[in-house]
Amino acid sequence: MSTSAAIPAAAPGESRGPFRLAMGVIVTTMVVIVFGAMTTSTGSGMAFVDWPLSDGQLMPERSYTTVPGFLEHFHRLIASLAGTLALVLALWLQFGRRATPAARKTAWIGGVVLLMQAVVGGVGVRLELPAVTSVTHGLLAQVTLSIFAWLAYLLSDRYARTAPIDGVPPGTGRRLAIVAVAMLIAQTLLGGIARHTNNSHALWTHAGNSLVVFLVVVIATGFAVGKLGGVPGLRGVARWLATLLILQLVLGFVALIVRNSAGKTPENVANLGTAALISVHVFLGAMLTVLAATLCAHVFRGTRRPE
Ligand code: HEM
Ligand code: HEM
Repeated sequence: MSTSAAIPAAAPGESRGPFRLAMGVIVTTMVVIVFGAMTTSTGSGMAFVDWPLSDGQLMPERSYTTVPGFLEHFHRLIASLAGTLALVLALWLQFGRRATPAARKTAWIGGVVLLMQAVVGGVGVRLELPAVTSVTHGLLAQVTLSIFAWLAYLLSDRYARTAPIDGVPPGTGRRLAIVAVAMLIAQTLLGGIARHTNNSHALWTHAGNSLVVFLVVVIATGFAVGKLGGVPGLRGVARWLATLLILQLVLGFVALIVRNSAGKTPENVANLGTAALISVHVFLGAMLTVLAATLCAHVFRGTRRPE
């Protein structure tokens, strides 16, 4: 059995403000992902053909009188809020005295990726949503969220409290955890291609690959719990990962059955229940990637070389 040695805890509340703000960015981005997934699922991506304004305005009438207008415009608005919060966080860490260089760097990287995400979304609209921008946009959303999850962990008291685990060589389980994150990102890429091109090969490859993803994630999670179960918080992350993975497999089959075989057409807005079911699958995909990235962060922290 491995145990973690006691190390001095961080001063109480040391990074509490920035930690809370990082959690705020994460929650806001999760809401943006739900709105984005609903925008795609209802075929509302071209509800406004201009960007950065919508119908040339900040608050166009259609954004509160039509469903496609509401989904697409509020997706943009809430994304702007996430961007603003991310900028405030980066500035806070930059000019605050207590932030570590790693936290500062991660906050700026997160902010830049978030900005890129908005630009890819906007350029996609200007080009009438070619699959390449839509797929990249869906993929980057998960990367963005994972960076902020890693940042929140860096800023947490739990991070400060975590000592290297006794009895395991430094670096144990890292490669496996990285492969799990990479497999989930590859699975999103396949799902995104299927979603935005309506290509049946991509769809079946995505469905088939879920077995590989399942095995890799279960092995990486099981190994982490077995060897590094003493890392504070790791078991909780692993439990969520396993539960959502099973739910996701079930929802994948549901999405396959209920989806419109004609793809993402504006007529889909008439079936909001179906759009919501498929969007939950997209959302859980993002949650799985974030949880795997968080597991990875815990593994890295718990297997560093003792100072
Ligand atoms: C925090 C920043 C943003 C995040 C995390 C984000 C995330 C997402 C996600 C996850 C989707 C759904 C992808 C899918 O279901 O396949 C989406 C769709 C979309 N997003 Fe964003 N988005 C952001 C900012 C923006 C901005 C600023 C725009 C500006 C126009 C935008 C435009 C769109 C459009 C048009 C779609 C629908 C694409 C389609 O149906 O092909 N997004 N977004
Ligand atoms: C590890 C398990 C899985 C993960 C992480 C996952 C993740 C995802 C993600 C993230 C997307 C959207 C990609 C994007 O637009 O950015 C997607 C789409 C999709 N997935 Fe999965 N998926 C999994 C398993 C499955 C399974 C087992 C099936 C079916 C048997 C399935 C069926 C679908 C379908 C049909 C779509 C496209 C929905 C549409 O028509 O818009 N997925 N998946």
